Amino acid sequence: MNKLRNFCIIAHIDHGKSTLADRMLEITNTVEKRKMKEQLLDQMDLERERGITIKLQPARMEWKGFVFNLIDTPGHVDFTYEVSRSLAAVEGAILLVDATQGIEAQTLANLYLAIEQNLEIIPVINKIDLPAADVDTVSQAIINLLGCKKEDILLTSAKTGQGVEDILQAIADRVPPPTIKNQDLQALIFDSTYDEYRGVVIYIRLFGGAIAKGDRIKFMANAEESEVLDVGFFKPHWVSSGDLANGEIGYLVTGIKNLDKAQVGDTIVKKGSATKALSGYKSIKPMVYAGIFPQEGSDYNKLREAISKLKLSDSSLVFEPASSQALGFGFRCGFLGLLHLEIFQERLNREFNLELIVTTPTVAYKIYLNNGEEKILTTPMEMPDPSHINYVEEPFMSIEVVTPKQYVGGLMSYIVEQNGVSKDTEYLDENRLILRYDIPLSSILVDFYDKIKSISSGYASLNYDFADYRRCELVKMDILIAEHPAEALTSLVYKDQAHRVGKAIVKKLKDVLPRSQFVIKLQAAVGGKIVAAEKIPALRKDVTAKLYGGDVTRKRKLLEKQKKGKKKMAKAGKVDIPQEAYLAVLKR
Ligand code: GTP
Repeated sequence: MNKLRNFCIIAHIDHGKSTLADRMLEITNTVEKRKMKEQLLDQMDLERERGITIKLQPARMEWKGFVFNLIDTPGHVDFTYEVSRSLAAVEGAILLVDATQGIEAQTLANLYLAIEQNLEIIPVINKIDLPAADVDTVSQAIINLLGCKKEDILLTSAKTGQGVEDILQAIADRVPPPTIKNQDLQALIFDSTYDEYRGVVIYIRLFGGAIAKGDRIKFMANAEESEVLDVGFFKPHWVSSGDLANGEIGYLVTGIKNLDKAQVGDTIVKKGSATKALSGYKSIKPMVYAGIFPQEGSDYNKLREAISKLKLSDSSLVFEPASSQALGFGFRCGFLGLLHLEIFQERLNREFNLELIVTTPTVAYKIYLNNGEEKILTTPMEMPDPSHINYVEEPFMSIEVVTPKQYVGGLMSYIVEQNGVSKDTEYLDENRLILRYDIPLSSILVDFYDKIKSISSGYASLNYDFADYRRCELVKMDILIAEHPAEALTSLVYKDQAHRVGKAIVKKLKDVLPRSQFVIKLQAAVGGKIVAAEKIPALRKDVTAKLYGGDVTRKRKLLEKQKKGKKKMAKAGKVDIPQEAYLAVLKR
C-alpha cells in the first residue's frame, strides 16, 4: 500500500503524453523493448493514424519496489470527460508541457480539473532535446500559473528518455499513496469496454476493501448482482491476478451480459454490504446532436448493436431511436463536440463496416412554450409552431484562447464577429496571453477552431466549457430541392441571419448537386416563406436519347447493374442527393 502510486499524465494535445508513457513502460521493463511499438497505449487504429489519444488507458508498472498505476488520458477538449474520469481514480498528475509550445489552452483545462480533484501536481517540461526548446520562458509561465518553485519543475525528453527516471522518482516521493477510507469493498467504475471473448470488462479503482475471483458483488446504481469471474491489472494488456488490493486499479470480468448494467461512475460493493456509493462524476450533458441513419435500411439492427457497444466505453455519448420520412429508422445521438461526432462516425464505419447518413448537427436549445412547458430541442424537426413559443434559449460556452500576443487583434475581432462576449485577458508570460470570452455554442460548432488556427498561423489554442443558457431568436429553416423538403438539411438558424444562411446553403447546393434532365429549384424557406432561391439549369442534351430503340432487355439489365453499384441516396422528390452534398453543405 505504502509503495503504491496512482497517477495520470495530463497535457495539451501532442505535448508528448503517449511518448512519455512509452518510455516509462520501457524503463520499468513492463513491456519488453522488442515488443515496444510507438504510442503503445494508443490501442485503436484510429488513434495511431491520427496520432491522438481518444480513450484513457491504464498501465501498471513496477520500479525500485514501487508499484505505479499510470492512466494515459486524451488531450483534445472534446474528450475532457475521459480526463475527468481518469483523475478521479488517481492521487497525482504529471502536468506535461512542451518546451517549444509552452502552456496551451488544454493544459489549463486539464490543470483546473486536477486542482478540483486535489491531486498532487508535478510539472514537467518535455521535448528539451529540440533546438527550439525555451525552458526558461516555459518555466516562468508554469511558476506564474502554479505558484510553484523553479526546482519543482522537472525537465525531460520523452523521445530520448532523458529525465524520465527523475519523473518516476518524483512520483514515488511526491504523490501520496492511496488513503484507506474503508475496509469494505468500494470500487469506482471509471471505464468499461466490450471484449468479444470476455464480454463486458469493467475498469475499477478500489477505494475500500479488496476484491477476488468468486466474490459476489452488487452494482449500486441498479442493484444488479453478479459474480466476479476474473480480476487483474493492466500491463497494459489484461493480466489475471485473481485479486486486487485496496487502492489498486484493475479490471473486472463479471457475469453481466447487458451492456447497460456497468455504468461508468457507479460503485461496486460486496453483495449484502451496507457500504455507500462513492460520489461518481459530475454527469455531463452532450451539447451537440445529430441524426445517424444507416444508408441501407436493413442495417438498422447492426447500427443499434454497434452504437450500444461503443457507448459502453464512451459514457458521454447519448442516443435514442429516431425515424424520418426521408432517412428511415436510425438514431439521434448527442456528443460533446464535433470531433467526438466525427470520431464516432468513423468508428462505426471502420469497426462495424456501416455506411451512414449524418444529419446537420445542432446544439441543444431550450424552448419555453406559452403553456408553461419547457422542452429541450435536439432536432430541427421537433421545433414547435412559432405561435406556441414564448421564448428560446441557447447554450453558451466559456472559451479560453491562448495565443502569442501578435495575433490578439485578429482573434478578438473574429470572436466578436461570432457573437463572443469578452470577459478578460491574462498574461501567461511576456509574449503569450489568455483571452476569455463567452460565446454561443452554435458559433464554435463548425469551423471556429480552424479559423482561430488560421488567423494565428497555427499558434493559438482553444478550450471551452459550458457556461449557461441565454435567450436567442430562433427559426426553423427548410431546404427544398425540386420543391420537396430535404429533411437532413433542415436547420435552426438565428432569425436575423435566415436570409444570409439560406442563401449560402442553396448556393452551395447548386455547386455540388449533379445536373439532371430538368431544371431543379433550390429554395430555403422559413415558416413557408422562401428566403433564398437558386436554380440548377437542365442538361442541354438528353444523354439517354441515343439509346432509344435499342434492345430493351439489354438496356434494362444495364440499368439494374448500375443501380446495384450505386449507393443508396437520400431522395428528395425526383432528385438524388449524394451524401457528399450533405457534407459540403455542412462544411460550407
Ligand atoms: P495526444 O495523445 O494526441 O494527446 O498526444 P500526446 O500528448 O500523447 O503526444 P505524443 O506522445 O503522441 O507526441 C506528439 C509528437 O511529439 C510525436 O510526434 C512524438 O514523437 C513527439 N515527441 C514527444 N516527446 C518528444 C520529445 O521529448 N522530443 C521530441 N523531439 N519529440 C517528442
